[in-house]
Amino acid sequence: MVTKSFSIQFDEYDCLDDLATQDKNLLYKAIEATNSSYAPYSNFNVGAALLLDNNEIITASNQENIAYPSGLCAERVAIFYANSKFPTSKIITIAIVASVNGSICDMPTYPCGACRQVMAEAESRSSERIKYIIGGKKRVQIMYGTESLLPFIFDSLPK
Ligand code: THU
Repeated sequence: MVTKSFSIQFDEYDCLDDLATQDKNLLYKAIEATNSSYAPYSNFNVGAALLLDNNEIITASNQENIAYPSGLCAERVAIFYANSKFPTSKIITIAIVASVNGSICDMPTYPCGACRQVMAEAESRSSERIKYIIGGKKRVQIMYGTESLLPFIFDSLPK
């Protein structure tokens, strides 16, 4: 038996405005997208913005439904839309942010497990690491590669 371990690295900023211009702009697009969130059940408004390799920016927000599991997170709305509109494009960067009662949350809002699985597949389709900008007003974290968010991914079916 061997005990193994791994670590992840990420960049952390105390203020959203300290980010590099392109990253800051994408995060602000995600903030803007929180305005289109339909979240009457959780009142938690999430926005996602994707930068694609064709320079398109796709924004989306969470969309809820009275049959709760029928709703979808902002990240998956954005990724599935990007994949259907630009099926051959790669996702370069994903910015995520959330707001409550019109105020951006102070701390980062991390993607749920199901979104991480979808992100992992988006990354494997593109063969490039996706950059993640996970934002809050008082803390922004930048991660490189889905493995930082989801190690030991489910990625193969038995033959
Ligand atoms: N949600 C997202 O849109 N993205 C996340 O990363 C976490 C959660 C949504 C789902 C639901 O509409 C609401 O936030 C509360 O869970």
